[in-house]
Amino acid sequence: MSNAAMNAPVNAPVSAAAEPRVRFENVVVEFPTAQGPMRVLDGLSLDICQGEFVSIIGPSGCGKTTLMNMLAGFLQPTRGRVLLDGKEVSGPGPDRGVIFQEYGVFPWLTVRQNIAFGLRLASNKTPRPEHAAVVERYMRLMGLADFADHFPKHLSGGMRQRLALARAYAVRPEFLLMDEPFGALDAQTRTAMQDLLLEVLQAEGKTVMLITHSVDEAIYLSSRIVVVTARPARIRTVIEVPFGYPRGEAVHEDPRFAQLRAQIRELVMQEYAAQSKQQVRLSD
Ligand SMILES: Nc1ncnc2c1ncn2[C@@H]1O[C@H](COP(=O)(O)OP(=O)(O)OP(=O)(O)O)[C@@H](O)[C@H]1O
Ligand SMILES: [Mg+2]
Repeated sequence: MSNAAMNAPVNAPVSAAAEPRVRFENVVVEFPTAQGPMRVLDGLSLDICQGEFVSIIGPSGCGKTTLMNMLAGFLQPTRGRVLLDGKEVSGPGPDRGVIFQEYGVFPWLTVRQNIAFGLRLASNKTPRPEHAAVVERYMRLMGLADFADHFPKHLSGGMRQRLALARAYAVRPEFLLMDEPFGALDAQTRTAMQDLLLEVLQAEGKTVMLITHSVDEAIYLSSRIVVVTARPARIRTVIEVPFGYPRGEAVHEDPRFAQLRAQIRELVMQEYAAQSKQQVRLSD
């Protein structure tokens, strides 16, 4: 029995708390190609519980975005099921805030209008008189207040990425699905955005799925890290991160951080090596 379970009060609803909110059940995805179906996900199963922060790490092109797209409701599995609170995902919804790998902002709306967009949807719960204040707050937090009336094409790549974050956070979704959300940011902004995300989670208690290529970022933010194999993606290893929340910069100095980093890097390198062998075989 884990320490947490041993220390739980006798009447605590342990099983109810552990009920998964997200379930990938033997998920297979195949895409048609000229050479026949290409298998991208190969019977992948994963549960995510309320309040968990799960990072997915694996080689480029292995199927991570495909995995997230199914939970976001943009793609159906070829076989298997993706369940949200026990019901099969049938399309996108306001409960899931998605931050796309390529920013996902509307080019025809200004910064202010982009952030306000989700708030205006009928499904959003934020009362109308509060909209302007919410938009101002997230523009300030993301350092975009001076660019409120600019269009995305006049922003830098990093600013567009911050705009995508502001837009997703502003509607306060229960789930955040983030696909390399900090990839285009400089090192300082990236750290600031990671800390801001931890603050948002602390205040609002969300369930998060994050795709990242940064091992340090995964350890710093997550409660669990899922290392996936080269394509077709299967789960290689699931690693429990031993640090609790609230979490701060000090965890970087913890000797367990360096051990985890070495362990995960080794696994990811092995999967990249497996992938390059496959590519050599394909080109033979
Ligand atoms: N709609 C689609 N039709 C056909 N093939 C697709 C489609 N979407 C993705 N693929 C292919 O599936 C594979 C996995 O793509 P995916 O975007 O999930 O990878 P990824 O793990 O997110 O990679 P990266 O780390 O580079 O973002 C790739 O070979 C990609 O070309
Ligand atoms: Mg991707």
